Amino acid sequence: MSDEGYADVYQRALTDPEGFWAEAAEDIHWDRRWDRVLDDSRPPFYRWFAGGALNTCYNALDVHVEQGNGARPALIYDSPVTGSAKVFTYAELRDAVATFAGALRNCGVGAGDRVIVYMPMVPEAVVAILACARLGAVHSVVFGGFAANELATRIDDALPKVIVSASCGIEVNRVIEYKPLLDEAVRLARHKPAACLVLQRPQARAAMTPGRDVDWNEAVAAAGPVPCVSVAATDPLYILYTSGTTGQPKGIVRDNGGHAVALKWSMKNIYDVDAGEVYWAASDVGWVVGHSYIVYAPLLKGCTTVLYEGKPVGTPDPGAFWRVIGQHGVSVLFTAPTAFRAIKKEDPGGEHVKKYDLNRFRTLFLAGERCDPDTLVWAQEMLGVPVIDHWWQTETGWPIASNCMGIEPLPVKPGSPARAVPGYDVRVLDDQGNDLPAGEMGSITVKLPMPPGCLPTLWNNEEAYRKAYLEQYPGHYVTSDGGYCDEDGYLWIMGRIDDVINVAGHRLSTGAMEEVLAAHPAVAECAVLGVADALKGQSPLGLIVVKAGVEVTEQQLVPELVALMREKIGPVADFKQALVVKRLPKTRSGKILRGTVRSMADGTPYKAPATIDDPAILDEIGEDLGRLGYPKA
Ligand code: COA
Ligand code: AMP
Repeated sequence: MSDEGYADVYQRALTDPEGFWAEAAEDIHWDRRWDRVLDDSRPPFYRWFAGGALNTCYNALDVHVEQGNGARPALIYDSPVTGSAKVFTYAELRDAVATFAGALRNCGVGAGDRVIVYMPMVPEAVVAILACARLGAVHSVVFGGFAANELATRIDDALPKVIVSASCGIEVNRVIEYKPLLDEAVRLARHKPAACLVLQRPQARAAMTPGRDVDWNEAVAAAGPVPCVSVAATDPLYILYTSGTTGQPKGIVRDNGGHAVALKWSMKNIYDVDAGEVYWAASDVGWVVGHSYIVYAPLLKGCTTVLYEGKPVGTPDPGAFWRVIGQHGVSVLFTAPTAFRAIKKEDPGGEHVKKYDLNRFRTLFLAGERCDPDTLVWAQEMLGVPVIDHWWQTETGWPIASNCMGIEPLPVKPGSPARAVPGYDVRVLDDQGNDLPAGEMGSITVKLPMPPGCLPTLWNNEEAYRKAYLEQYPGHYVTSDGGYCDEDGYLWIMGRIDDVINVAGHRLSTGAMEEVLAAHPAVAECAVLGVADALKGQSPLGLIVVKAGVEVTEQQLVPELVALMREKIGPVADFKQALVVKRLPKTRSGKILRGTVRSMADGTPYKAPATIDDPAILDEIGEDLGRLGYPKA
């Protein structure tokens, strides 16, 4: 733990951000030192470590080998769905990455080129990601649960030279073929990649397209290792698309320098982990948690990271997490509350916990969605370790608020992710942009500049970045979360105030879902809202108005809409329920009363606005919701 308390460290980062982050940056290997720690010459756009040069892959792998730690385990692949496990040392992982970087280079990939990675949770996904970083190429990982259409949208925005994929993923015991989705996405996209590198997994062999597709093993066999390419600190390391309020996802850009500095700093100061310890983020490389805390941060720190291809339950039982922790000596686990709700549902008494030796396990971190106090308290009781809720977003790449366990553990208040992390000046504002007093709900913002590691812009779209995040409250970044700060400075994050919902820790856009539903020929009008779900936090519910003159029943239409959503967005949308209604509930000015219907479904008190267009429609929807078993509270 640090000699300074949380309040001192927070204050130091606030009053002297340049000194604070320059000190943290000493922990990174630079090919060239920066000219300016914080380039603030073009507000509201800020850049960290301008003029500096480094390679992120070098800092994640080579540096550890060169310091004599090549034999230390870097990555443990644990795959209950295939019944296999494999350990890569730092030297082995560096060599695999260097050679795959050679394979990418043989396909014409160089610094600045984009590479899409559409892969399941296999070590080759990590190898592909780090190989891009090694070359100074920009990776864009697309989560495997997205459909071809979503992949195509990302191909057309990122314009990748190469796509790296695999023949299949495995969902508990179902083999999900990835290659047909990849082929369809390339067919749908206007931009065509020069090559697709495909890992053939034994569970399904993919048909290859001659002239375009290259077998991973053959590409590696023909390649030689390549060294790290030095890039500017401000050059992009990756693009990660995340859901916004429309069907067009936002391409979050991460730079190299600020990212490496912030992530390495976070490992000790937030997670209290040291080099050589085993750190496990049970997420997916397709999400930001996977980017930051499966791949980059643990490796930058010299930890051993765990890549787990399985689920919290069903692979094979609700003891899966405890088995992994015990078997691999995990010190810190990071996952989403929904995983714990799934485990609790199947093993409420924690019988499976008792079967494993968890003596090395120190702390559980939860994020990705609001953590309900019941889940937090249950996890604390079952595991007997501190359970730390922390809050962040794809945009920031690392926590905005957390109990910083490596600085000074603060008392836990279940339901709050504790206080702002040093570097983040969090403000709760009213509609006019005034700071709100403790206890009052408002829009949660971060006063600019944000600390290193946060998005500098959106891919190829600075204007959209400005509009979406910086325009509403000049001088502040808008998180789109609502909540308040209490008397002790603890933040309470109550939920999104835009059209984004959070299903099983996955961020989804109701706007994108509405676009899919509206494209069905029978649909005149629709709305999608996130209603409370005991397991997944939220689940999407559609309200559908059928076009006049179209003869279709709800029983006929809803399965078609469910299938359409799987086809267009993917199974991850988890869209399974919809109601056919006569009219959408609206105000007289045409605003859909999503919040009112959500409250009705959730069984929370609500009051229909005085400006409602047709009060009777809410009674009808109330009855319809009853048919689906709502309210479920
Ligand atoms: N490739 C293909 N399909 C995928 C996929 C992938 N990588 N990931 C999920 N899917 C599919 C699932 O199979 C499921 O399909 P189905 O509707 O045919 O059953 C659908 O997408 C929804 O997946 P999910 O929301 O994960 O639900 P689930 O019922 O399979 O599992 C949990 C529920 C709680 C066990 C699971 O969500 C989980 O482990 N969550 C942990 C939290 C997490 O990883 N969060 C990420 C951010 S930290
Ligand atoms: P994502 O970009 O997918 O990581 O999703 C970010 C969103 O998840 C945030 O804007 C919040 O709405 C929600 N979220 C993440 N962590 C927390 C948390 N600890 N408490 C409440 N909400 C959270």
